[in-house]
Amino acid sequence: MTNHRLALIVGANRGIGLGVTKEFLAHGWDVIATARQPDQAAALQALAAAHPGRVTIPRLDVNDPVALDGFATSLGGKVLDAALINAGVAGPAHRSASAATAEEIGALMFTNAIAPIRLARSLAGHLRSGSGVLAFTSSVMGSVALNSGGHELYRASKAALNSLTRGLWEELRGRNLTVLSLHPGWVRTEMGGEAAAVSVEDSARGIVTVIEKQSGAHRHRFLDYTGKELAW
Ligand SMILES: NC(=O)c1ccc[n+]([C@@H]2O[C@H](COP(=O)([O-])OP(=O)(O)OC[C@H]3O[C@@H](n4cnc5c(N)ncnc54)[C@H](OP(=O)(O)O)[C@@H]3O)[C@@H](O)[C@H]2O)c1
Repeated sequence: MTNHRLALIVGANRGIGLGVTKEFLAHGWDVIATARQPDQAAALQALAAAHPGRVTIPRLDVNDPVALDGFATSLGGKVLDAALINAGVAGPAHRSASAATAEEIGALMFTNAIAPIRLARSLAGHLRSGSGVLAFTSSVMGSVALNSGGHELYRASKAALNSLTRGLWEELRGRNLTVLSLHPGWVRTEMGGEAAAVSVEDSARGIVTVIEKQSGAHRHRFLDYTGKELAW
């Protein structure tokens, strides 16, 4: 690795995470891009080959508590300029609190809300004081104020993520970091579907621009990929 700025993207092998990884590279950053199965992450491997020494692909399944809790330590002395905790799932296909089992809720909440915060808490000491940005791929669906119904379990998981993030922000006050809850837009990925309004490229370009612009803000903000502030 060189003395470029360094970003960590968690859940980088496809979708928005892969797009953000490409965009950070295009902006001259080095990237630590995690995947559950690095050996099968062909797109990331191709990026690493095309950008020698600038991309590392550590293994991380955020549902594995041992791997999750050990991840920050595995960074050694590396200082991160930005971290985007992006891995997330849609939850059970029935999407209904009335139909949900405790196992389904446990899995959804762990992946989308608990794991990101647990990882972020352990990463905070690795972020560059002053300019460091700790970002989460949240969703407008996590907004209570803007809730228009439907997808209630997924909405609840992102609302929980936003709430936990605000708590972590309070914990990190005085550390000179910036914390962002980001809505990537409705994006054409496996999760967003083909009818979604925004391309991965446009979303990723927006997300990286917002992260770069917010560096040094030392606030916790809920922003979409265009930089627009969202109601909690
Ligand atoms: N697409 C949208 O319209 C939209 C809108 C708002 C918010 N979001 C949020 O954006 C983020 C990315 O979504 P996407 O649309 O890019 O979805 P996607 O194409 O389904 O990609 C999801 C990513 O998360 C990873 N992931 C899932 N569970 C994981 C786990 N336990 N450990 C590590 N990685 C895990 C996946 O890895 P594998 O390949 O190993 O499964 C994949 O890299 C999510 O947090 C999602 O909630 C998406």
